[in-house]
This record gives sequence, C-alpha cells and structure tokens, in this order.
Amino acid sequence: MAMRDVALQKCINPGCAAEFDCRQSLFKCPHCGDLLDIQYNWDKAAVPGKLSDFANRWASRDKPLDFSGVWRFRDLLDFCPDNHKVTIGEGQTILQQNRAIAEHLGMKPDCLFLQYEGLNPSGSFKDNGMAAAFSHAVMVGATSCACASTGNTSASVALYAHSCGLKCTVFIGSGRIAFGKLSQAMDYGAQTIQIKGDFDDCMRQVQAVCMELGLYLLNSLNPFRLEGQKTIMYRIIEALGWDVPDWIVVPGGNLGNSSAFGKAFLELKQLGLIDRVPRLAIINATGADTLTDLVNNKKLTWNNGQVNQKIIDDYYADLTARHFSPHTCASAIEISRPVNLKKCLRAIDVCHGVVLAVTDQEICDAKALIGKFGLGCEPASAATIAGLKHLLADGVVAKDDRVACVLTGHALKDPNVTVNYHKDNQGQFSNPPIEAPNDLAEIIKLIR
Ligand code: F0G
Repeated sequence: MAMRDVALQKCINPGCAAEFDCRQSLFKCPHCGDLLDIQYNWDKAAVPGKLSDFANRWASRDKPLDFSGVWRFRDLLDFCPDNHKVTIGEGQTILQQNRAIAEHLGMKPDCLFLQYEGLNPSGSFKDNGMAAAFSHAVMVGATSCACASTGNTSASVALYAHSCGLKCTVFIGSGRIAFGKLSQAMDYGAQTIQIKGDFDDCMRQVQAVCMELGLYLLNSLNPFRLEGQKTIMYRIIEALGWDVPDWIVVPGGNLGNSSAFGKAFLELKQLGLIDRVPRLAIINATGADTLTDLVNNKKLTWNNGQVNQKIIDDYYADLTARHFSPHTCASAIEISRPVNLKKCLRAIDVCHGVVLAVTDQEICDAKALIGKFGLGCEPASAATIAGLKHLLADGVVAKDDRVACVLTGHALKDPNVTVNYHKDNQGQFSNPPIEAPNDLAEIIKLIR
C-alpha cells in the first residue's frame, strides 16, 4: 500500500480528525459528517526543491501527463498512480496581463492579470478538478457518477465521464442554467435531470441519490476535486516567473475554488516553495451572498477549525423559514448553502482573505469591460473585476499591488446575458447592433 503512505483522507474537524485510505470513496467524514481533506506525507512524495523545477516537464509535453496543466504538478497532488490518472488536455490556460482594464480601474498598468480558465476543454475551471476527481473515480473502480450543478460542473462531468466510460447523471435546477452549459451536458451524453428547485435543492438530492445508489459524487464536496483546482494557483505562479501575486480574486459560489487556493498556498508555504502567501478576495453576487453575510456581519471565522456551527445552523434555518432562494444573473454562483463553507473559512484565515458582494449591474458592466478589453468571460467570472473595483476604492488593494483575477468560465457559456446587456442597452458598455436596410448607400452611412 505504498500510495497510502503518501496521501490520506482526513476530516477537517480537529475534534474528529479521522483518517481514511484514499482508495475509499467518501464525501463526508463517516464519523462526524464534516468535510474531508486530502493530506500528504510530504517526506514520501517526490516534491521538487523549488517550483521552477516543474518547468522541466515542458520538455516532455508529448507525454499527456506532462502536457496536462494539472498533472504537470502531480507531485503536489500525489494521491493516485499514474496509470489511473485521467487527462483530456485540461489546464492549457493563460495568465493575461491586461493594461487596458488596469488603467480603467486606476491601477498601475502592469499590475492586473486575468487567469483565463475558460480556455479549458469544457470551457471552465471545473476541468482542473475533474481531471483529479475522475482519476480517483477510476482508481476506486466507479462505473456511474453524478453531480448537482449550476451548469459548468455538469458540462465538465459529462465530458470527463464519457471520456472515461462512466455513466453520468447531472442534476440541475429547472430554468437556473445558462444555455451554453445545458447544451454541453446533453451533447456529451449525460442523463440530465431538471429538478423543480434551485442548486441547493439539487445538491441535497444528489447526495441522497449517490448514497442510495452508490454513484460516485463529483461535486466539490469530493476532496479530490479540490486537489486538481490547486493547480490553477500553480499556473499563476508559473506565469509570473515562479513568483506569487499580492492578491488572488475569485468568484464565490460553492466555495470549492477559494478552498482549494487556500490549501494550495498553505501547502506551498509549509513546503518552503513560496516565501509569502498572497491575499485572497472572494466575491459573491448580492443575490447569493451567504459567505459575505456570515463573515462580514455574523463574524464567522475558521477559529483553528472550531467553527461556530450554531451561527451557520441559525443562518440556514432562517433561510429555510423565509423560503429564501438565491437570485443573480451570474447563475453559476446562485448558491445560498455553499458546501465548502468551512474550508473557505480556512482559506480566508491562511490568506488573510476578504469577502464582499457585488450587484448584478456591476457584474454585467464588468463582464462587458472584460469582453471589450480581454478574452471575455461569463457573468460569474466578471464578479472578480467588479469586486476589485470596490477593493481599490476602499483602499484594501493598492494601485500597485499585483492582482490575479480568476476568470472561471468562457464568454460563450451564457450568451443570453451578453446579448441582452448589449441589445437592450443595459449598461455603460452596451454595444447594441444597428438595424440597417438592405441598401449599400444606407449601410455605408452607418459605418463608424
Ligand atoms: N465561476 C463559475 C463560472 C462557476 O461555474 C462556478 C461554480 C463558480 C465560479 C463558483 O466556484 O463553487 O468553486 O465557488 N459552478 C458550480 C457548478 C457550482 O455547478 O457549475 P466555486
């Protein structure tokens, strides 16, 4: 059992701290129900002496695992043997320095970077997590899998499932998913179940279904997902010449990414591979701002793992009593009971993080700005730039801080929001199409 020695699953609740073999398929601690983490015995892992050593893998990128933007860093997520590792070429994403948006925000022009995770095979960052989680699924011999989703998880799961030969069922909230994403799940052959409810209802149902039928669960409750998502941070560091930025800005939904990023930096610091940890800003939409409310108003903290569960329970009881359902045009982050809440609190602790919420109007304007000057993104991703604007105005982020915003999903995921914003003149960057008669002279007059 050599692998067991390198990695194990461990309950994040310090009062429990139960440990389990990585060959088990568990999504919550069987003893106390808390979240599970993957922990490594670093002495037994082949961790390089410095991060830049990973650059050597570029010389052998004809090998799929060295080409993968996830598995290129496999020594930092060493939980399964190479023959089980799954890759479809994920993680070929770029960190774009964006001077135009920086100037627009009043930042020093060379200080803003956009990490384009929309360039992944299914068009979102989820593929980083799925490469890792499907490797685990293959390792444990899973034959059927499932997820709940606001859209991108379902697209990514459906793509990886068919490439690994697993049966796949995805649960989505009826009317709550952008068409680009729904079209992918159907096209990639997933059984798509539309529940009359929101994401949180789907999340609850899928866990029950997975327990009942023994399906492999691919939501970010699955700790192996987060191991893959750590690599987004490694690639940002790589693109900055193996240096860390001052800030990472990320949208917050189910809080898998923020949790994974915090874990990535905690581990790199413990390993002595970085000398400082960047700060983390997590941006909610105002219509789905559980994290912001709990952290900023209810003062919920990680507290060395002794999270005040009563604050969370009372908060959720109130949501239930009010029949609250979250609403935002950024449907990807339309979530009010984020499953990784506690791990995210840990990330905030590790990275001295901040949390805030932005309005749908701010999100749409920021999205159009990114479209005009960058490679484009879906609404949830644009929450980063909308949030950064606030952080600059409040003096939390300095004009010359180096900031990396994670643009989580591709612009084509949600064409409706984009078309409506421009066509209906919904904001300051609207660029509506112009009606023209089928007449050359009239058309020429219109060209500007
Ligand atoms: N951005 C996009 C484009 C997403 O699809 C999601 C989550 C997030 C941000 C939030 O990330 O959950 O790690 O905080 N989408 C999930 C889904 C929930 O089902 O596709 P998170």
